Amino acid sequence: MNLTKIVYIILIVLISLSCKESGKHTITKPSKRGVITSHAMVVSARKEASKIGSDILAKGGNAFDAMIATEMALAVAYPFAGNLGGGGFMVYRTNDGGIGAIDYREKAPLAATKDMYLDSVGNIIPEKSTLGALAVGVPGTVAGIFAVHEKFGTFPMDSLLKPVIALARKGVVVTQKQETRLRKYQPLFPRANKDSIPFDKSWKANDTIKYLALAKTLEEIMTHGKDGFYKGKTADVLVNFIQDNGGIITKEDLEKYEAKWRTPVTFTYDDLKIISMSPPASGGVCLAQIMKMIEPFDIHEFGHNAKKTIQVITEAERRAYADRSYYLGDPDFVDIPISKLIDSMYLNERMANFSFKRATKSSTITHGNVEIVESSETTHYSIVDQYGNAISATTTLNGAYGSKLYCSELGFFLNNEMDDFSSKPGLPNMFGLIGAEANSIAPEKRMLSSMTPTIVEKNGELYLSVGTPGGSTIITSVLQTILNIHEFKMTMQDAVDAPRFHHQWLPDELMMEPNSFDKQLKTDLENLGYLINEEDAPVLGKVDGILVLKDKKLEGGADRRGDDTAVGF
Ligand code: DON
Repeated sequence: MNLTKIVYIILIVLISLSCKESGKHTITKPSKRGVITSHAMVVSARKEASKIGSDILAKGGNAFDAMIATEMALAVAYPFAGNLGGGGFMVYRTNDGGIGAIDYREKAPLAATKDMYLDSVGNIIPEKSTLGALAVGVPGTVAGIFAVHEKFGTFPMDSLLKPVIALARKGVVVTQKQETRLRKYQPLFPRANKDSIPFDKSWKANDTIKYLALAKTLEEIMTHGKDGFYKGKTADVLVNFIQDNGGIITKEDLEKYEAKWRTPVTFTYDDLKIISMSPPASGGVCLAQIMKMIEPFDIHEFGHNAKKTIQVITEAERRAYADRSYYLGDPDFVDIPISKLIDSMYLNERMANFSFKRATKSSTITHGNVEIVESSETTHYSIVDQYGNAISATTTLNGAYGSKLYCSELGFFLNNEMDDFSSKPGLPNMFGLIGAEANSIAPEKRMLSSMTPTIVEKNGELYLSVGTPGGSTIITSVLQTILNIHEFKMTMQDAVDAPRFHHQWLPDELMMEPNSFDKQLKTDLENLGYLINEEDAPVLGKVDGILVLKDKKLEGGADRRGDDTAVGF
């Protein structure tokens, strides 16, 4: 055989192999790298917020300074989820390897009761925990940024807030996606608010919305610190407003609110060390459970989004979410056997009845037996600074525009985070999540969250900062992004853009992003007993992340599903 012929044969084999691969599991797009920078980066849901954070870094601020500015800038530029009236979680890793986390999750008001969303015969009253003032938990975001500033901030607070206030005064341009979102949720605003609100107007793409009331509230916070929100004028206006609309939050609730430093959940997966959020977020524990259950399987060999890969991941997810619903809640109120739940022996046992031949039925799965030893909208942003510090933060109002209750005088929406409690054990919340006693309502308790801000180390060094919105799908979207990078060697951008699927035990169905998975693959899965739901899964998360490349440059992954943007230098 001559050389030309050999080369020709090799080419044909390679082309046919690559065609086979690309057509096999998901409808693939050409590989893409995200924004690359040499020193520092912020990736968030809006360019304006990423830019404000990146500018702080460029002036010499650290990742924590940039976090404060970005969090507040999202409250201005992304009112859908960015907030003063909500809460969140942040996981960090400093350049010397120190790790930690802050919980600025909302709390149930002092006057909250276990049955507050039930009628006289014990049925859930529709919308009571999701729409309007009774759905609101005591906001935590402002306390969160002040706690971060006190511990790690290097710039004065006013230098972090000034650019945000300037943005609020100048206004933010409406994007096409924002116009669509506003149109979708506008019918709900008059149902939650007595008076009209600025978002009732039919805003169009390229219009500019100015946030003058919010600028004033931010100024009050800049002048008086945390008390500028939780006490004094702002607190008076906020409490009067909430109560006037039928809510139960008092001045005492605001005064008593404190953000809490928590120890993150850590575990290994191959040569990675994962650092993720601990309860009251379920993200870290569930992520650990799922990853530990799939670790013994060679999913790299099975292939990305291949049938066997989807089976293993789905079955691990099913089992982890069953445990989530039973064991997890606010650690200040319930004992959570975290180390047992993420123990490899326990998790191997949980997977013992898994078979590639047939889907396990969720009805046959309950929470595992662990001996208890006494002892819909959100937004994520990731930051790596030029000093090597990293943060991963997820912040939310819960549903889109939270409770839809908007305080015009102060310029922000209030959350509907109370719906993340289990209003009635065994019945689903707005994300279909079932809860138990561990997540029942009690005064001052924090509601269980799925938020999963996560940082990954490789060989002891910073490797990845990642997270996403998406309610119950947050955990599984973070999971798939990490696996896409680690197991399937994708770029950061490809990893966040890749089609995703999700299983959460109940309902017993496999959510798949529509128009993304191969038809034959779906038929094969259905034949194995998986009930596929593409309708309820138009978007599974909106992942943002930063990957440290081999040459130490940073690659941003800004999810194609939103207006998300990476900015850095
Ligand atoms: O904390 C939680 O799990 C939910 N409140 C998150 C809500 C959410 O992600 C909505 N976004 N799509």
